[in-house]
Amino acid sequence: MPGVERFRVEGGGRLQGEVRVTGAKNSVLKLMAAALLAEGESTIVDVPAILDTEIMAELLRRLGCGVELDQATDGGPGAGGSVRIDVPAVPGHEADYDLVRRMRASICVLGPLLARCGQVSVARPGGDNIGSRPLDMHISGLERLGATIETEHGFIVAKAPRGLTGAQVWLDFPSVGATENILMAAVLAKGTTVIDNAAREPEIVDLCFMLEQMGAKIGGAGTSTLEIQGTDRLTPTRHVSVPDRIVAGTWAYAATMTRGDVFVRNGRAEHLEIALDKLVRSGATVERVAPGEGDEGGFRVRMDERPKAVDVVTLPFPGFATDLLPMVLALNSVADGAAMVTENVFEARFMFVDELARLGADVRTDGHHCVVRGKERLSGAPVRAHDIRAGAGLIMAGLVSDGVTTVSDAYHVDRGYPGFAEQLRSLGVDVTRETDPDALLEG
Ligand code: UD1
Repeated sequence: MPGVERFRVEGGGRLQGEVRVTGAKNSVLKLMAAALLAEGESTIVDVPAILDTEIMAELLRRLGCGVELDQATDGGPGAGGSVRIDVPAVPGHEADYDLVRRMRASICVLGPLLARCGQVSVARPGGDNIGSRPLDMHISGLERLGATIETEHGFIVAKAPRGLTGAQVWLDFPSVGATENILMAAVLAKGTTVIDNAAREPEIVDLCFMLEQMGAKIGGAGTSTLEIQGTDRLTPTRHVSVPDRIVAGTWAYAATMTRGDVFVRNGRAEHLEIALDKLVRSGATVERVAPGEGDEGGFRVRMDERPKAVDVVTLPFPGFATDLLPMVLALNSVADGAAMVTENVFEARFMFVDELARLGADVRTDGHHCVVRGKERLSGAPVRAHDIRAGAGLIMAGLVSDGVTTVSDAYHVDRGYPGFAEQLRSLGVDVTRETDPDALLEG
């Protein structure tokens, strides 16, 4: 139940040991939606045991799919599970508000269902804790492919009774979600679609790989121009998700902040170039281990001094990921010197700053800039997680605070980090979960 649990973080201690990252949340959710494009059973492997994959599984069940989610965590939270999705000849085409409200990424069924069924109704998500998140580029892109789209009674209703037709689509901004929805619609459209200024995130490349295995023809994956030749029919497949670069980046920042030594197994340094370069500038050592026979490889981050402050500007991939913003703010709050951190993707990410200030951090925002003046230590206090990444950032800040920090609304963190407290404990720090007495009072 939301709000009932919180994390209890004992300050001090350093992260030491090895941790494995599973497939990426932001990939797996879209791969699950992509399964809708082909009748029959698709399987996605290395699925993280998180709340969001459960919500997506529930959404697909309501669309008439048989879904078996195996969150096998026998090998600990770093061991990925799998999900088998059996898609009927004619899936349902309505996604309700109760699920979309819990997980905004539900919107990624819009493109595939429109392509498969010729019509779809998806509840319109509201704003959320990282800012207003419009869908204009999703909608205008699908309209370019011939759909008519209206908002009725809180639902986005899209129709293309005679099917979709390939077209040239220009995105104003390389939106991850809009690129994915248009891509997943275009693979079953008649003719060629070109998406210009497309997002280039590794999760988009992963989605392109899965679609190609299903029989789609896609050129330019990983570049800002995607060219898609539509086909009549796709076939189910089995696909292993790309590793989670945001979780891997979280471990890298946590290791640096706590002056620790962590090997991030299955972490892909090439998906985190700027984020890891910032850590090197901060004084850490980053060692890459290439995958070998029977070995996933990864990278090791070591730090044995106080980190130096680093300036950061968030941008779409390959820029510094907005999802790692709380981590770099937390790092700078205990670094030597002052840093300027600029957020260019989501306006409300800085809500996190007020919570960080409760721990004594010297942080000041002005528009989308934030100046952080580092202190030797922060000071433990009760704080609240507003979103997945802010929650993880606050736990990290708690580790470099004196005394105890509690982070309420633990469920946010559960949406994106499998067994976070358990993994932190395995690295030698004292982070537990407990009932939130304040939440019970409110309830
Ligand atoms: C995805 C990720 C999220 C990450 C973000 C940016 C998932 C489930 N979530 O979110 O973790 O932080 O990418 O890397 O994959 N925008 C519009 N109109 C639109 C679409 C987007 O104005 O039609 C704006 C958004 O408000 C935002 C920016 O574009 O300011 C980027 O959003 P987008 O890349 O679409 O992010 P998501 O796909 O929602």
